[in-house]
Amino acid sequence: MANLQSEVVEKLNQFGQCRLLSHLQSLDESNALNLLRQLQEVDFEMLRTIWQKGSAGTASTESAADRISRAKAPATVVRQPGSNNDLQIWSRAAETGSAALNAGKVAVITVAGGQGSRLGFDHPKGMFPIGPVTQRTLFQIFAEQIQARRNLHHADILWLIMTSAATHHETVTFFESHGFFGLDPASVHFFQQGSLPAIEAASGELLLAEPDSLCLSPDGHGGLVTALQKAGLLDLLKQRGVEHLFYHQVDNPTVIMCDPALLGFHIQQQSQLTTNVVRKVSPTERMGVLADVDGRTQIIEYSELTAEQAASEDEAGQWIFWAGNTAIHVFSREFLEQLTEGGCRLPLHVARKNVAHLGNDGQIVKPDDPAHPNAMKLERFIFDALPLADKTLIVEGNREREFNPVKNRDGADSPTTSRDALNRIAREWLNLAGVDIPADKSVEISPLVAMDADQLAASIAQHGLQQPGLLIG
Ligand code: UD1
Repeated sequence: MANLQSEVVEKLNQFGQCRLLSHLQSLDESNALNLLRQLQEVDFEMLRTIWQKGSAGTASTESAADRISRAKAPATVVRQPGSNNDLQIWSRAAETGSAALNAGKVAVITVAGGQGSRLGFDHPKGMFPIGPVTQRTLFQIFAEQIQARRNLHHADILWLIMTSAATHHETVTFFESHGFFGLDPASVHFFQQGSLPAIEAASGELLLAEPDSLCLSPDGHGGLVTALQKAGLLDLLKQRGVEHLFYHQVDNPTVIMCDPALLGFHIQQQSQLTTNVVRKVSPTERMGVLADVDGRTQIIEYSELTAEQAASEDEAGQWIFWAGNTAIHVFSREFLEQLTEGGCRLPLHVARKNVAHLGNDGQIVKPDDPAHPNAMKLERFIFDALPLADKTLIVEGNREREFNPVKNRDGADSPTTSRDALNRIAREWLNLAGVDIPADKSVEISPLVAMDADQLAASIAQHGLQQPGLLIG
């Protein structure tokens, strides 16, 4: 402990963390040890640079405004099929993707470390009940989709679920208490993302949440890269011959898990990072947008665009920022490995927030002035990997079918809109199979019964309407 203490004290002195220095001296041995361990991990040099720059937005070298002024609509997008020829192209892509699935070359990454504060749900978001009839949770829907893909492709599909300190324990316990929803537990790997300390905006000093602990928050979904490596999962993927990672967020129950067409385009074009986009419904919709800046594809986050920029048009009168990021990506494993070389290369983004903390008198201080947040919180975004790739690809998805996330308590992207979408999609498939459902009924189809209209028609032809997993209520 003495060595650790002197190492940390030297750093605190060097970086002017006076408050922490005197606080440490007031602690008993066990509390001091906890705090010293946290402080040992802190990159004070980096935090000082960020604080000194003091800018809102990204902590990388260029301001968001400069990048946005040079942004153009993405030059190349594989659009939704509009002709017979397109349909053939899409179907060949789906064959390529299916072949990779059959060969066991695909794994799934679900990012589930966020705290879902906008939804006001007090548990990990994946535990949110969303099924229109049975209240199936988001996690169960994903698990059943993965199981259905395993059955269809007669192959292993590893499922890597990224949690955070805030969501890890409850998520793992939830899976255990539900028998992993029928999946082989050995195929599901939970791994925890890291955290970063909050910096006091006025002083650059770190804040304490408790006497023996800093104010820490998850390091953003960009923490994925380091977390995968630390957990040894990149090695595991390589050993298992996995080449492509299907990435999605925990909030969208209508994601087409391991979408064979998306995988197929990614493989055919030897892309390192492929992104599914949909047309934004309005310029101010809270979606990041894909754009080309200096010939490289990037995502510009909605919080970086002013309303005027978001609505800007090109010469043809089209929105420049039309291509909304659904946060459904395919990564090549090798590209993820490259991203870890020489430490994490993803930039840090700064968010100014009010952060409750321990005051000098040992009482909790709860700042609440929205105009002058007291702290800077830091996170990395996984999509900042896009400009680091030599070969990227953008594929347009079918918005109604694929993008119906649960984000807000009510209004757009809420449990109501997402549940309605699940119901609507299930009814459409039933209609195509020749079954009409009275308007006052809800429908829910387990992915184990069908993942698309054709599979549903086949399943009904074989088993009829009365089958577990096909629920009309
Ligand atoms: C996100 C994207 C936005 C995209 C939209 C599509 C960001 C910054 N923006 O916005 O470009 O158009 O989704 O729905 O992501 N997460 C972690 N760890 C963290 C933070 C988040 O695992 O530290 C996970 C969450 O659990 C969730 C996902 O990342 O699955 C998205 O996080 P959220 O902060 O809700 O992003 P949005 O603002 O909705």
